[in-house]
Formats: sequence, structure tokens, C-alpha cells
Amino acid sequence: MKVAVIIVAAGRGHRVGADLPKQYLPLCGKPILQHTVAAFLKVPTINLIQTVIHANDQALYETAIGNLDLLPPVFGGDTRQQSVIRGLESLAMHEPDLVLIHDAARPFISPRHIEDIIAAAEEHGAVIPTLPVVNTVKQISGQHITGTIDRSSLARAQTPQAFRFKLIYMAHLRTAATTPLTDDCAVAEACGIRVTTVPGEDRNFKITTAGDLMKAEHMMKQQLTDI
Ligand code: CTP
Ligand code: MG
Repeated sequence: MKVAVIIVAAGRGHRVGADLPKQYLPLCGKPILQHTVAAFLKVPTINLIQTVIHANDQALYETAIGNLDLLPPVFGGDTRQQSVIRGLESLAMHEPDLVLIHDAARPFISPRHIEDIIAAAEEHGAVIPTLPVVNTVKQISGQHITGTIDRSSLARAQTPQAFRFKLIYMAHLRTAATTPLTDDCAVAEACGIRVTTVPGEDRNFKITTAGDLMKAEHMMKQQLTDI
């Protein structure tokens, strides 16, 4: 069983609004991307790690990753979906059986959680980690409430999402012109692929805003002192 990982890191981090794209900002002194990559390097069943970066970020990438044991990075596109396709195209020649696709902006992914997702993907073929929706969710029109959604039928999606390589590669090629598909599960859904949920982890949140960065710094400090 050959297992590959794509880490998408070609975004610009507009919502964080820092001087650098968020994946290169430091968390406890190390770039966020380095924390993310380190978690996957700790999982022995992973054979290949493909990062996808922005062409303008090569110097930042070199500083963050240096000579860690990864495939050379490939350049992403204007959307996450396009960046994932670049990663899949690059991995195709290695013919992996499974691929995990992960956001660089989720540095709290744990090696144990990655292993659980790989095991579930071996069994089910297509897997997504999800969390329940705990708040009441409203439907709105302008400033007014028009309804309350049954939250038991909702879930919050996380990454890494994992798939049989050929299945998700084909699905991405087939849906490349369909936008917006903001995660790989949506690509699979669009092709009628049945995706199985596994429990996500609260800690594995995506750093999206400046406030998230502060929360992440605090959590990382805690994690490093716990070890
Ligand atoms: N991503 C990517 N290529 C893109 C857009 C996003 O590789 N064209 C990656 C980001 O680097 C990130 C992940 O997809 O790791 C999730 O995207 P998001 O959180 O939206 O990051 P950004 O697009 O960088 O942030 P923003 O939307 O605030 O600009
Ligand atoms: Mg984005």
C-alpha cells in the first residue's frame, strides 16, 4: 500500500492579512507549514509528501522546509481546487494507492489522527473527518431570520480528507471546470462517490483569521510544554 500526502500551501492568506502568507508565519518560532509537515513525517506508513506552493514563495518555502524528506514542491493555482490538481498531477507518476489532502493552515493535525484516517481510507476508499455542529444554525434573508436548520443533519468538514488515488484524481479532472468546490469531498460528491465520515478533532482547526493565530500560538505553547 503506497500512501501519499498533498499539503496545499499556495494560498495568500488574505483573511489573516499579515505581511506573509499565513503558512509561513511563525508559531512558537517555527513556520506553520513546518509544524504541519512534521506531523506527516512522523507517520511511518506515508511514502510520499507533495507540497503545493505559490511561485512567489520559493524563498519562504526553502527557509521553512529546507532539506526535509519531501518531494520537490509544485506550484499551485488561483484556487485551492486548482492547487490540489497540480499536486495530484505530480503524484500520478508515483502511482500511489491512497492520497491524503491536507491544508497547510491546519498545523495541529496529530500523527495518531493521520493514522486513523489512513486506516479508514483503506477500508472505505473515501474518508472525511467531521465535527458536529453544536450551535443552532439559522437561515437568513437580509437582516431577518427565515428559518432554523436541523443541525443533526449538518457536519463541519476538516482535512486531511483521504481517497483512493485514482478515484479522486479522476474526480478532480472531471470537475475541474466546476466552481466553487471548496474541498475534495465536494469534488468526490459531484462525481457520486460515497464518502465516509470519521470523527474529526477540535484541535485540528484551520487558521483563518488574525484571532486564530493568537489562539494557535497559545495552543502550540501548551503542546510543546506538554511533551
Ligand atoms: N490554498 C492553495 N491554493 C489556493 C488557495 C488556497 O493551496 N489557491 C491552500 C491554502 O494555502 C490553505 C488551504 O488551501 O492551506 C485552505 O485555504 P484557506 O484557508 O482559504 O487559505 P488562503 O486561501 O491562503 O486564505 P484566504 O482565503 O484568507 O486568502
Ligand atoms: Mg482561501
